[in-house]
Amino acid sequence: MLHVTSTLIEQIDTLSNIATEFSNFAKMPKAQNSSFELFPVIISNVDLYKETENININFIDLSSGACEVYADREQLIRVFSNLIKNAIQSIPPSRKGEITITLSQTNYDAIVKIEDNGTGMDEEVKARVFTPNFTTKSAGSGLGLAMVKNILESSGGKISFDSSPGVGTVFQVTLPLNKSNHE
Ligand SMILES: Nc1ncnc2c1ncn2[C@@H]1O[C@H](COP(=O)(O)OP(=O)(O)OP(=O)(O)O)[C@@H](O)[C@H]1O
Ligand SMILES: [Mg+2]
Repeated sequence: MLHVTSTLIEQIDTLSNIATEFSNFAKMPKAQNSSFELFPVIISNVDLYKETENININFIDLSSGACEVYADREQLIRVFSNLIKNAIQSIPPSRKGEITITLSQTNYDAIVKIEDNGTGMDEEVKARVFTPNFTTKSAGSGLGLAMVKNILESSGGKISFDSSPGVGTVFQVTLPLNKSNHE
């Protein structure tokens, strides 16, 4: 029984790797990396969504001015756009939406937080958010966050989140600051 279970788990792992590979292959052109400031990338995303009805999008800049990163700019635009879109979609129609995006930095990393007052996620959803094709939306592909995670990890960054059902969710993106800033 134990053996059957572990074989099954192995097969599921393999399948999910195949799904990951496939969605990367299908969706992701090779990264074109360059050095750029994160601030305007975030601002342009905020501008793109700020007219959304019944939702306030606030931007708070706590960085000390220079948040230069080395990554694929187009892909990072997709990262923030996917995260803001998810935040917007999480807000029930009965609620006035508040989305707060914060840019800050440590000595080595730029940190972007996207916080919403949406539906939040229960444990079951939390466990699966980054799995390709996992969606709770009738018209979702479930590739948004899988792609976000993949893009960030291939730029040396990472993503994490915290969520309370009924209260909201905050996603945190960490990206290494361009080394030349410290030399
Ligand atoms: N901010 C959020 N608040 C609540 N649930 C979220 C949030 N972001 C993601 N989720 C949950 O994670 C699931 C997966 O998100 P993901 O972006 O990968 O796919 P999707 O939004 O469903 O579809 P797509 O991004 O392809 O349109 C969502 O269906 C939703 O259940
Ligand atoms: Mg999405």
